[in-house]
Parts: sequence; structure tokens; C-alpha cells
Amino acid sequence: MFESLTQAPADKIFELVAKFRADTRPEKLDLGIGVYKDQAGNTPVMRAVRRAEQMILDAQTTKTYVGVAGNPGFRDAVRDLVFGGAVANERVASVQAPGGTGALWVLMKLVDRANSGGRVLISDPTWPNHEPMLEGVGLKVDTYPYFDPATRSVRFDALMAKLDGLGPNDTVLLHGCCHNPTGANLTEAQWDQVASSLRRTGALPLIDLAYQGFGDGLDADSYGVRKVAATCDELLVSFSASKNFGLYRERAGVSFAVARDKASAAIVGSQMGNIIRAAWSQSPDHGVEIVRLILTDPDLRADWEAELTEMRETMLDNRKRLAAALRKASNSDEYDFVAEHRGMFSLIGISPEEVTALREKDAVYLIGDSRMNVAGLPRDDMDALAESIIAVTRA
Ligand SMILES: Cc1ncc(COP(=O)(O)O)c(C=O)c1O
Repeated sequence: MFESLTQAPADKIFELVAKFRADTRPEKLDLGIGVYKDQAGNTPVMRAVRRAEQMILDAQTTKTYVGVAGNPGFRDAVRDLVFGGAVANERVASVQAPGGTGALWVLMKLVDRANSGGRVLISDPTWPNHEPMLEGVGLKVDTYPYFDPATRSVRFDALMAKLDGLGPNDTVLLHGCCHNPTGANLTEAQWDQVASSLRRTGALPLIDLAYQGFGDGLDADSYGVRKVAATCDELLVSFSASKNFGLYRERAGVSFAVARDKASAAIVGSQMGNIIRAAWSQSPDHGVEIVRLILTDPDLRADWEAELTEMRETMLDNRKRLAAALRKASNSDEYDFVAEHRGMFSLIGISPEEVTALREKDAVYLIGDSRMNVAGLPRDDMDALAESIIAVTRA
């Protein structure tokens, strides 16, 4: 039967990881994959995670199934972290899912059950898996304008023009804070306008949220989600604990559905449970129990928030250092936007050929569209990196 199959297309991010691993040059620098890195280039296990893990090892008495919807204490604690009381708890249905991507998949299946084959709009550009995931569940994909490579900022007027033309059968996949791959985020005033438009048109918002705490702080980063939750009757949110708890391989995520009332939330929750039962049936518990302990134990939580703040401040400082080094190397303000962007990524705006040259010449690895992970930047060697970047753009 397998003769009918051909090689599946490679994911460009995983392809880059393989190339980086095979590169034997000691000075190689991975600025591609979306994981946080410290100055030694490691992705650390967070302090509070280690302590919570030990508590689980000491106290856990069984590994029996938790249930289709997953760990309830985890889901409730994350609900409070994300929504901060912006919407009544009884209107929020949730199920645990394997990571933010798993959570997104459950929500896409839910949209397809509610509105079979409906249209979902994704940002231009977006993550490489948004489109195939939507197509995989049978939904139709369209795009909305998001990023202007010339100004390295959000094309807000064009974005609003598209949103204002949507209707109640449309779903729009929005990026939570720091989630879009470009580094350019919506301001609070822009989120207000987006929320009002969604309320007016009745289009269903689906917010992919994987970087809460990586921008300006845990509460500041949830402004958009909370505004939309407080404004619209219905909202979907996929939450990931991969980045802000450093739990990547533990696959800790939640699918949230905000419904118009308690009865509707119960129905939506039952559908999400039913989707999971027909897929993986039960979710892994270890990572989410770590998150539950951290969010509910005041001491662990304070330690986690302190380390998250250190990570955020390191990324902000890296941004400032790289912008200054690029200003010096290019003798222009063309790259000042790097310091204005937020989160782990910036599209630095060099061509795919220049990205390839940077990799081949200086062993600096970026995604082909020139997306850079600022967490991996060499803070004490920024001038050399900036000079390499400017050199390939002038070759
Ligand atoms: C589109 C998208 N959303 C969310 C995430 C969050 O990461 P994870 O699925 O590892 O929790 C990712 C990471 O790959 C992603 O590609």
C-alpha cells in the first residue's frame, strides 16, 4: 500500500534544525527555532519547574487516567492567568491538549463542527503550520494583511478593512502577544478597534497564545485576549505553556472556548471532549501538573514570575544591543525597529539569498524569511553579528 505515498514536504523550521545540528563549525549560531536560550545557548529547566517536579515525584500516588478534559486544577489556574476575570468563569469551557498546537487543532475541529468547511482567515505572514492544520481539518483558508516589510510594522488600516468586511460565518485566527512571527504587535488601542470590529461583524476570533509574559508582563501581554473576551459573545483561545514555563517537550496546553452563556459553554465543552475522545482520548499529565503547582503555590509562583521577568528583560536588552550594533554597522537607523518589536522574534527584512549567504559564510542560522530569535543573540558579541548581517546585504 505504501507505494502510493511520496515524500512529505519538509517543515522549513525542522529542516533548519537538522542543518544546524550537522554543521561542525564551532562558532555556529542558531537564531532559527522558537525556543528560549540563555547566554550559554541552553534552554534551561526553570527553577520553579524543577521544584514542582520534585514535589510531584514525592507526592504522586497514582498514574491512573485523569479524564478526557484533563487536569481541572491546571485548566482553572491557566484560565485565571489568561482571562484575569475579564469574562464570567461559567462562560469559559476548557479542555487540556498536548501543547499549544494540540490546543489549536482541537479548536479548529470545533470550528469545523460548528460551521463545516467554513472560512478561517490567517495573517500574512503567519506560522508555517497554520494553513496545513486548517486544511487538514477541512476548513477553507483565506488571509488578512498583517505586516509591511517596508516599514517593519503592522498594516493596521489594511487589516481593519479586511476585518470590517467579515461576517458571522467567518473565523479569524489572531496572534496573542508576541505570537506573530514578525515581532510587530498590535497596540492596546489597536486591540480595542479589533475587538469592536469583531463585535460588529459577529466573526469568531480564535487567538493563538503561546508567549504570555514574553512581551511587557503577564497582565500587559493578555490585554488583547481580555479585551476581546470582554467585548465579544464568543471567543476561542489556544494556550501553550511551552515557552513561558519552558515545558516544550511536556506538551502542556489548553483549548478555551468562551460561549455566550453557561448552557452554551457546557455544550461546547462536551464537543471538545468528544473531539479528544476520538483522537488521543487522554492527555499527558506531568507537564500540566507542574504548571498547576506553580500557579497555585505562592512561593513557586513568585519564583516562576521572577525567572520569567529575567528572561523577558534579557530579550529586551538583546533587542536594544542588536539595534545599536546594527545602527553602528549600517550607519543608519534602518534597523532601529528591532528594539521596538516585542517577544522572541523579529523579521529583520533581508532576502532569502542573504539569509543563505549568512548561513554559509558565517554559520548564522535564520529562517528563510529572515525571522530571527532574539533570545539566542550573542549579547557580548553583537558587533560581529551586526557586521556579518550588513556585509551580506552589501555583497
Ligand atoms: C502555530 C503555533 N502555535 C502555538 C505553538 C506553541 O507551541 P507548542 O505547540 O509547542 O505548545 C506553536 C509551536 O510550534 C506553533 O507553531
